[in-house]
Amino acid sequence: MSPDKVGRYKIKSELGRGGMATVYRAYDPSFDREVAVKVLPREMVHNLIFRVRFKRELKMIASLEHPAIVPVYDVGEESDGRQYFVMRYMGGESLSDWIKRGALSLQDTAILIERLASALDYAHQKGIVHRDIKPDNVLFDDTNHPYLTDFGIAKLTEAAISATGGGTMGTPAYVSPEQAQGANVDSRADIYGMGVMIYEMLTGKKPYDADSPMSVAVRHITEPIPDILQAKPDLPIEVDAIIRTAMAKDREERYPNAIELSRALNRAAFGDDRTTSASASMFNTRQNTITQARRRVGFIVTWMILLVVLAGAFALSRQLPVASAVNLTRTATATQTSVLESTATVATAVATETTAIPTEEISTPIPPPGNADKIAFVSGNGIYVMNVDGSGLIQIRTENSSKSNLHWMFDGRLVYISRNCANAIDVETRSIEELVCFDANETLEDFRVLPDGKWVAISIQRTLNILPFDVELLKDVDTRFGLTILRENCFYNQYAFRDLLWSKSGTQLAARVVDTERVSSDQIFLLNVDLPNCDTIGPVRIDRIPGSHFDFDSASTKRITSFDWNGDNLFLLNDAIRNDGFGDLYIYDSKVREGRKINPIDGMCCYRDARWSPDGTYILFVFQKFDSNVIELYYVKYSDIQDGNTLIPVALPGEFLTQRDKPQPAIRPAQ
Ligand SMILES: Nc1ncnc2c1ncn2[C@@H]1O[C@H](COP(=O)(O)OP(=O)(O)O)[C@@H](O)[C@H]1O
Ligand SMILES: [Mg+2]
Repeated sequence: MSPDKVGRYKIKSELGRGGMATVYRAYDPSFDREVAVKVLPREMVHNLIFRVRFKRELKMIASLEHPAIVPVYDVGEESDGRQYFVMRYMGGESLSDWIKRGALSLQDTAILIERLASALDYAHQKGIVHRDIKPDNVLFDDTNHPYLTDFGIAKLTEAAISATGGGTMGTPAYVSPEQAQGANVDSRADIYGMGVMIYEMLTGKKPYDADSPMSVAVRHITEPIPDILQAKPDLPIEVDAIIRTAMAKDREERYPNAIELSRALNRAAFGDDRTTSASASMFNTRQNTITQARRRVGFIVTWMILLVVLAGAFALSRQLPVASAVNLTRTATATQTSVLESTATVATAVATETTAIPTEEISTPIPPPGNADKIAFVSGNGIYVMNVDGSGLIQIRTENSSKSNLHWMFDGRLVYISRNCANAIDVETRSIEELVCFDANETLEDFRVLPDGKWVAISIQRTLNILPFDVELLKDVDTRFGLTILRENCFYNQYAFRDLLWSKSGTQLAARVVDTERVSSDQIFLLNVDLPNCDTIGPVRIDRIPGSHFDFDSASTKRITSFDWNGDNLFLLNDAIRNDGFGDLYIYDSKVREGRKINPIDGMCCYRDARWSPDGTYILFVFQKFDSNVIELYYVKYSDIQDGNTLIPVALPGEFLTQRDKPQPAIRPAQ
């Protein structure tokens, strides 16, 4: 029978019993939240010395703080001496429930293990060995993120049992040979446990099975490691070597840490993975420059006044709207706060030129904000083009079909996808050219020509095709198969490809990839592409975003509804919190592999369609408050975000972007 209360926690139901403890679902009135309470049996803490040690261990476990470890909120003792600890209630299933429904794909396994390995490695670095790695101890939250639980609990229970004269315990199916023999255990026992768990995830079966726990333990000590390729022949052969290394009988031969194991698995699942660069984080750099900037405030204010006057005069002389003149002054003032080197150069150039040249006779053109001259966007079924401050708005295309993937091509034309066709439109003459058209039953996801105009990447029916950009060649193609059989085409289907972006150099692609079968998070894959050899060398994945670099909030659907890339190392992306594709806005730096939420409007939600300006100093984004129908477009200097600045939206006529539009703005580099 369940108790009514444990400590202050009101017991609602029993969740289950493991080796020794009982876990309850309970309510914590102090924090008004659901928790899980794990109560250990009274026999476990029989004497005072042991109790003190026990509590110390529990506290150490409770000190583990990692995004993939079930947090322990509280530890306590009942009046009858029973110890309990209180953890986050995990609303999802356990990994063993998942495995019961069938083996997982290699990709899903690699993604899950990457997250769990980082948790395990963190604990190991704090000197805590888990000792009971198994699928029952991997619990999911309601959005299918895995967490490790029960760190060190096995040690407590083992110690208690030996103190009371009982035998060793653990979970024989996952127990390392040294643990089964009662030897001293270190972090490498967890590597073994993880190897066994990976075997089970990939095959749906445990590597050693027998009738009694005792004979399972003996098999771990004596029997050769089973060949995983026999249980699952379609796995790449490297996986066998991974299992053999992780489950080596001699712990000296195992992976030295969980990260190495996860890397090997990632390589087998996704191709080569780059190691983290040691260079300074962009966020630290930003911090330093802000401090520097404060010292110069007086200096900047003086310059600002001067520049507003000069830029205003300049704007008038070129009949540019004053709004962009104000932006110009911001460009100058932000010189010291910039996180990007290129900003500093451009901004300095603005400052010197503006002051050096007489106001009436400006001969050298000053780069416009962000080096952009036009913004194109979709509203309803129409395509519009305007100046960056919202002036000069014109409609350039309408017909009754939705349009997507709007972007400017290398030759200055605007490309969009409509009715499964990619079209290029000349915004001056309004002439339209059909670049390629596919049958209605195959979805064209993206069509991106390389910056040099020589190659095109086409994503159709979740496959990636790279071929020379030749409209004549594409005229006869109307199915994915038609593309595949072109001699010049490089065809890839190892991931479920969706939208694509090229790097500036054309040697890398960023692709949005849909969730794999069970891990419900979209990812952006950064891929190295060897164009001249693309028929023999497939794209090599070098990074995943968010990967394990950052987590979307719990309210997120983990769908990335739009992303942009400066073509170098900086990404902007938003997830979906609302079902219309608006969510939190994130920045990610692939150089230092760090990402964070930026939500530029006072930290509020929700955004979509953020874009870098051509020079990477400004960002454009679409914002809609939770309780509002109004969609606003902002074009602001990146370094103006989060400095307590009030950001001003681009002024658009009232009837624009008031419904649930997907504007997908595209910024044209200054011509
Ligand atoms: N934090 C938690 N939230 C929800 N359920 C939990 C939590 N911790 C454990 N459980 C569930 O309670 C049951 C018993 O857990 P436990 O005593 O750790 O045994 P084992 O790990 O051997 O399954 C399991 O079904 C487990 O899924
Ligand atoms: Mg458990």
